[in-house]
Amino acid sequence: MIFYFSGTGNCRYAAEKLAHRLGVDAIDMMDAIRHRRYAYDCRKEPVGFVLPTYYWGLPIQVAGFLTRLACQWGKKPYVFLVLTCGQSTGDAGNMFAQWMKERALPFSATFAVKMVDNYVPLFAVPPKEEIVRLLEEADVALDEVAAQILRQECGDFNQLKGRAPKLITKTIYPFYRHRRKTRHFAVSDDCIGCGRCQRECPAKTIGMEDGKPVWKKPQCILCLHCLHACPTHAISYGSRSKKHGQYMNPNL
Ligand SMILES: Cc1cc2nc3c(=O)[nH]c(=O)nc-3n(C[C@H](O)[C@H](O)[C@H](O)COP(=O)(O)O)c2cc1C
Repeated sequence: MIFYFSGTGNCRYAAEKLAHRLGVDAIDMMDAIRHRRYAYDCRKEPVGFVLPTYYWGLPIQVAGFLTRLACQWGKKPYVFLVLTCGQSTGDAGNMFAQWMKERALPFSATFAVKMVDNYVPLFAVPPKEEIVRLLEEADVALDEVAAQILRQECGDFNQLKGRAPKLITKTIYPFYRHRRKTRHFAVSDDCIGCGRCQRECPAKTIGMEDGKPVWKKPQCILCLHCLHACPTHAISYGSRSKKHGQYMNPNL
């Protein structure tokens, strides 16, 4: 069983690839939350989490999901985390380990894989050839992660923490709460009112009024799916995202 959260497809791709290798199901965490599916029989298979790095920490919804998760565990459960990131993870792995510990959930191994950075409020989406190269390298890294999981290796195998991970997470992660404010999103006249943003928002934060998206809650997860999936690139976040492009994992 692999639980994943994904805004632009990197984690979904990684989770589905690993699930295929391990012969287990990949489950979208937001679907599980929406349908209140928290009970799983995990006695006979490894359990994984594939999550994006957000502000050198984790998407906020993960904590609530872990609180409600009610797995039946085997005698020796093997539970792993795979973080995807654009640059580095900071201390996100330890944040997850701590969340598991606080909920008395078992935890065995952490891995990290660099993919394409989708944080367009700050960074530009790389050119197409660079995306292809990054995702080819990610595939190689995922093969190695799958092999380690199949051998049930335990420990912290994250090589992408970057400099001073504890300090950077402690300093930067608190900003995530402020940046999740939906007032930072704007919609331009390019919007064709197709409603894709509303239908696909993982947190169901978006509604449609007069044929245009409106954010119904003051905060969202900030996965940026709406911005990246918009067919006319009509959604922006802050002043710089517009010139930084759009990205959806092309391998899905
Ligand atoms: C709100 C937000 C914050 C992010 N923070 C980080 C970060 O701290 N470090 C990093 O390397 N990448 C960061 N990223 C990039 C994502 O972790 C990366 O692109 C990830 O693979 C996206 O996964 P997804 O396509 O499944 O959503 C951030 C992206 C978003 C949307």
